[in-house]
This record gives sequence, C-alpha cells and structure tokens, in this order.
Amino acid sequence: MSRSPSSPAGSTSRRMILGSAMAAGMSGCARAQPGSPDLNPPPGLWQIARDRGFSFGAAVQANLLATDPLYAAAFEREAGILVPEFEGKWSTLQPREGEFDFAGLDAILNWGQARGRTVRGHALVWHDSFPDWAVAAMGEGQTRARGVMAAHIARVLSTTRLRIRDWDVVNEPIADPPGSDTPQAEGEFRNSPFFRALGPGYIETAFRLAREQDATLRLVLNDYGVEEDTPWAEEKRRRLLKLVRDLVRRRVPIDAVGIQAHLQMNRPFNPDVFARFIRDIRAEGLSVLVTELDIREANAIPEGFPARDALVAERAGAFMAAAIGAGVKSFLTWGLVDRYSWLVTDPAVARPDGKLHRGLPLDWEYNRKEMWRVMARAFAG
Ligand code: XIL
Repeated sequence: MSRSPSSPAGSTSRRMILGSAMAAGMSGCARAQPGSPDLNPPPGLWQIARDRGFSFGAAVQANLLATDPLYAAAFEREAGILVPEFEGKWSTLQPREGEFDFAGLDAILNWGQARGRTVRGHALVWHDSFPDWAVAAMGEGQTRARGVMAAHIARVLSTTRLRIRDWDVVNEPIADPPGSDTPQAEGEFRNSPFFRALGPGYIETAFRLAREQDATLRLVLNDYGVEEDTPWAEEKRRRLLKLVRDLVRRRVPIDAVGIQAHLQMNRPFNPDVFARFIRDIRAEGLSVLVTELDIREANAIPEGFPARDALVAERAGAFMAAAIGAGVKSFLTWGLVDRYSWLVTDPAVARPDGKLHRGLPLDWEYNRKEMWRVMARAFAG
C-alpha cells in the first residue's frame, strides 16, 4: 500500500519539474509499487496553479486524511486549498441545538495549517445537511428562525475566525427550473426551510450576519446548474444573475459567487455562453470561483479507461479554458480521487448502470489521469 515519499519541491526548476510531472502522468501506469519511483511527483496542481497566479484545491474528508496515507499524500501533493466535504455543514457542526462539534473541521484546519494550506468554509446556510431540529425551528416563527440562523453563523464564524477567511454563506438558494434533473414546481428561489420561514430576505440576512461577525471575511454565494448550454441552465443563470444584481444594488455584503461546476457529459457545454455569464457576474464587482468541479460521464461511454478519461478531460479542458478566459482565478474540485468521489458513493449521482464515474483529476489508484494533465496545462497556459 505504501509508496516512496515524494521528493521535496524546490531544488529543480519548476518548469523542468512540470515537464517531468506531466511526462510521468503520461505513462498511464498503475500505482507505484513500494520502493519504485513516485509516479506523481511534485509539483502538484496547486503549485502549477500558484506559479501562474491561480489557486487550486479540493474537497477533503477529515476521516480519510487520518486513515488513508495515500489519500493524505495526494492532498499534500495536489491541493493548496482544502474545503471540508462534510465537516463545515450544519448537521456536523450543530447536530443538536446549542451543541457544537468542531472536531472534524479542526482536524482539517490543523492538517492544513501544518502544511501551509488554506481552508475555505462550506456552508453556513444550506437546506441540505440541515438537522431535523433546525428544520423544526424554522417552522416556529420568524423571530425563532432568524435567531437560530444568527446563532449558528455567530458561533461558527467566531470559532473559525482567523483560520478560515472564505465562507460559502448561502449555498444553493436558486430553484431548479423546469427541465432540470430536480425541478421545483414554482418560484425562482429554492423552497428551503429558510425560505419558508423568512422569504427570500433570508439570503440578505445571512450575508449581513456574516459581515457583522467579521468585516474582512470573503462572503460567497454558491450554486450549481448554471454551467451548461440547456434552456433550464439558461433560466437558472438568469435567476442567479438577477439575485446577485439585486444584492449588489442593495449593498448587501457579498464578495464572490461560487460556481459549483458539477458538470454532466450528457449536457452540451458552450464556452461562450458560460464565459459570458462569468463576465456578467464580474461586471457587478464580484469575483467568481469554481468551487466543486467534477464531471459525470455520459450514459453511453466508450470501452476502456483511456477513451473515457480522454472524454472527461476534453470537457474539463473546455470548461477550464472558458473560466480562465473570463477571469476565474480559483478552482476547486469536489474530491481529488475517484474512489472517494460522491459521484461514486452517493446514490443520487452515481451511475445507474453500476459503472463508476471517473470525474476527478486522480483515478481510483490515486494516479494522475488525463483530467489532471489538462488542468495542469490550463493553469500553465
Ligand atoms: C455532497 C457530498 O459530497 C456528499 O457526500 C453528500 O452526500 C451530499 O453533499 N453541492 C454541495 C456539496 O454544495 O456540499 C455537496 O456535497 C455536493 C453538491
């Protein structure tokens, strides 16, 4: 199970290392045997990105960092930013009212801090991973609903202050339009417990509460389903842009929009349409981040991993080029290795045919694959 330790970056010139890293990745070999050379040597994606003024990171799971050395090594090598996949969500942080548990988040913060990595927060106000007690509290009148939301934001931000400087304040507030996978019958805003309790104003309230806690925190609104060239994605872009413009006009403290980018190869992608959307948001004075990139393969896939990986990489390349061209500087993938991707483990998004999605930069055996190389090239220009 073990692999030879990575050699420290820094002695050889970065350009030479990048060349050899890409070449090593090109071999397409299986995982290194104990004692054999590291097939995924530094620099990692985050260093390649950083050298060109970009940042790269990935969603991480605290328990895997602690129990799977190859997983931890992959993160150490590739990720400059860590975002907790579960550990910053409401149900983890406050499973019962007033009882907070920061153990998982602390573990990620400590691991990252020891290696000079940044941690971003995800997510303060979200309808999912939201415990039953809080759903019930949202139904107990506006004062109670606002109080519960305010208490959660205050406790989480004061506890993580100075260690997390970047938070998804509101996650997924826009309703999925007709035609999408999970359409909502009516309304432009998701019919969440927060929305039912406080109306669309809950979004503004959450951002203001976050800003009151910390004047310099980067406050992000994060959503999905706005990347592809379909009528329902177009409608979702329109809804999101309208919300963003409204927030900006009313001077609500928001700094950035996170685009999740859970891409699907069943859907068409038009770089111009997507780039235009990013520019529209940036024209409002906000940054745009890619926060959760991964790629679901099409229903019909070719035989063999090389052919499948080439298609995934092609989509990743088109997406990265459009985003970079439109001014995105920060990219995170939702996980790093296929074996732990929610595209494999979560029945809601796994393939119905039982095959396993290959939608992340590293394969099941932690090796860099074509998607990694395409992303490295996109960063390196
Ligand atoms: C997902 C996790 O990856 C899954 O393991 C979990 O079952 C559900 O949540 N958008 C988000 C993320 O903002 O928090 C979600 O993460 C994926 C979709």
